[in-house]
Amino acid sequence: MLNFDFQNPTKIIFGKGQIATIAKEIPAEATILMTYGGGSIKTNGVYEQVTKALEGRKVIEFAGIEPNPSYETLMKAVEIMRTEKVDFVLAVGGGSVIDGTKFLVAAVDYDGDPWEILTKPVRTTKAMPFGTVLTLPATGTEMNSGAVITRKSTHEKLGMGGPGLFPKFSVLDPEVIKSIPQTQLVNGIVDAYTHVLEQYLTYPAGALLQDRFAESILQTLLEVAPKIIADPSDYQAAANFMWSCTMALNGLIQKGVPTDWATHAIGHELTALYNIDHARTLAIIFPNLYKVRFENKKEKLAQYGQRIWNITEGTLDERANAAIDRTVAFLHELGVKTRLSEYTDDYAKSADFIEKRFTERGWNALGERKDITPAIVKEIVELSY
Ligand code: NZQ
Ligand code: ZN
Repeated sequence: MLNFDFQNPTKIIFGKGQIATIAKEIPAEATILMTYGGGSIKTNGVYEQVTKALEGRKVIEFAGIEPNPSYETLMKAVEIMRTEKVDFVLAVGGGSVIDGTKFLVAAVDYDGDPWEILTKPVRTTKAMPFGTVLTLPATGTEMNSGAVITRKSTHEKLGMGGPGLFPKFSVLDPEVIKSIPQTQLVNGIVDAYTHVLEQYLTYPAGALLQDRFAESILQTLLEVAPKIIADPSDYQAAANFMWSCTMALNGLIQKGVPTDWATHAIGHELTALYNIDHARTLAIIFPNLYKVRFENKKEKLAQYGQRIWNITEGTLDERANAAIDRTVAFLHELGVKTRLSEYTDDYAKSADFIEKRFTERGWNALGERKDITPAIVKEIVELSY
């Protein structure tokens, strides 16, 4: 097991009716900016619950943070925060609203061009305090310190983070899942599943407990996926789904183990170029990444195949390959397409483009062994066509 530090300061407030308790988490005198997305919260009752809970407080609203939150939209909110002297932000939404809010709290007092926070990138150690009401389980952003922001004008989607960007609190009420469209529920399952794979499908590091934490999240996701798809108002399934998504990316399972994250780096490019939903980009990339990096990953692939899919027959290579095939079959069972050409006709130059971009950014050493070069990224993307 590798050495590690672990500190996660986010308070989780979990369960039915918990939105009603948020006022006591926010300083009484605060000028609150409430951020949200395109309006789902206005039709599913979440907006009403939040505004009722904050009755009598000074609240300014900023709506319209789009999926894959854009720098362009967010800079308008930064202006408002400065003129209105906002001192607390409450994000009410999915990963995009919460990530967008992390950018706001980092950018508002940033001394310089806020886009630098993403390009340098800046490690944000101090930011304006914020809390979240999560409406879409998927990303884990409600209990981590990372965010991903898109600049529409240049088709760039980049990450940022730092210990100043943990939410002060996050409300996880599984009842919000009722109104989530099927495509987004499936995205949530695939995103959380891939988060576990990024931190688990590397090489054996002697971290027995972390492996079993990871496997238990995968098993729970597999168990509840058909239930929430069939009936998103199944509270027990929704609760288990929501907590699994949070646990998949709150830092716990990555401690003491090598992590990959190359699938995410490549996937962000596919979203930036073709506007493909985040989770769908992962489904396009990771099976092919595992094929290209097979020799590096086959021991963990075989362990995953045995413990998750009960694949026990054949040689190590055969079991590892069967594990990849079974995972692709699972994606297809969810109705998720796994080839780039199924999303766009305009894919032919993407591998060259991404190779060049990663080279320009100096991203020469991705993956758990820091040996995925831009040329290997190109090979992975080509295999994903
Ligand atoms: O905008 P509204 O109207 O709210 O609608 C949203 C949006 O259209 C809708 N929605 C959310 N909750 C709903 C709901 N509709 C009905 N009922 C509800 N309860 O769902 C749509 C998608 O929302 P979005 O927030 O974009 O989805 P998700 O949570 O999957 O977030 C994706 C973003 O998170 C980033 C992704 O790259 C992407 O930009 N990620 C953030 C991570 C992090 N910070 O740790 C890690 C992830 O790997 C990921 O990269
Ligand atoms: Zn993800």
